[in-house]
Amino acid sequence: LVFSSSTQVARHAALIIEKLIRENNAAGKATVLGLATGSTPMGLYRELIRMHREEGLDFSRVISFNLDEYYPLAKEDTQSYHTFMHDNLFKHINIKPENIHIPNGEVKPEEIDDFCLKYEQAIRRAGGLDVQILGIGRTGHIGFNEPGSTRTCRTRLVTLDPITRRDAAAGFFGEENVPHRAITMGVGTIMDSRKVLLMAYGEHKARIVQRTLENDLTEAVPASFLQRHQDATFLLDTAAAGEL
Ligand code: GLP
Repeated sequence: LVFSSSTQVARHAALIIEKLIRENNAAGKATVLGLATGSTPMGLYRELIRMHREEGLDFSRVISFNLDEYYPLAKEDTQSYHTFMHDNLFKHINIKPENIHIPNGEVKPEEIDDFCLKYEQAIRRAGGLDVQILGIGRTGHIGFNEPGSTRTCRTRLVTLDPITRRDAAAGFFGEENVPHRAITMGVGTIMDSRKVLLMAYGEHKARIVQRTLENDLTEAVPASFLQRHQDATFLLDTAAAGEL
């Protein structure tokens, strides 16, 4: 779907999520959201906060799982996705703290495998993801599944692509400060979500959006696996759709 502005993309995504939450709330059921970080979902989060404040959208039954976190990185660090999510969404809505899940950048190296396994188990225990929100990196990554990630990979420790570290440099006041690794849900974890909404804005995303949607499915562009998802929608502004 192509929209004339990023505000309209955010509004469209927010309406889909709002409907889901309201239907589940009415049925007394939880809504399980897979959430993303980066600049892309910020408009969506602003709109959800507005719906909570002005239209009574109730997040008390929402369970969230974030895609990824830099490793190693302290939760309280200003650059952590933990901080990002609290500042940009969680502290403004009535989600219960015990329902929030974010990969832990503080876990000891020898406990990472166990942590990742438990993260996958927690998603399954919650009933699986109802909807996964995604941005896309210029490498074609979703979450931090960089080129080379397989269709079936699960939550794990990964090494970041140099392009990804360069793109993150400003937020860390220099590329040398960007962690080399991250914990991310896998492509397989994302593919298991019942619905996927990938948002992309701006000319700088046009090339990777084109390669993702119009080329054959390939591990070189992990987002291209979404071509095989049963309910994945790309929400683009005109600039990001510019090379389609
Ligand atoms: C980071 C995140 C991704 C995100 C990507 C794009 O690498 N781990 O989940 O999609 O950045 O970021 P932005 O939305 O700022 O362009």
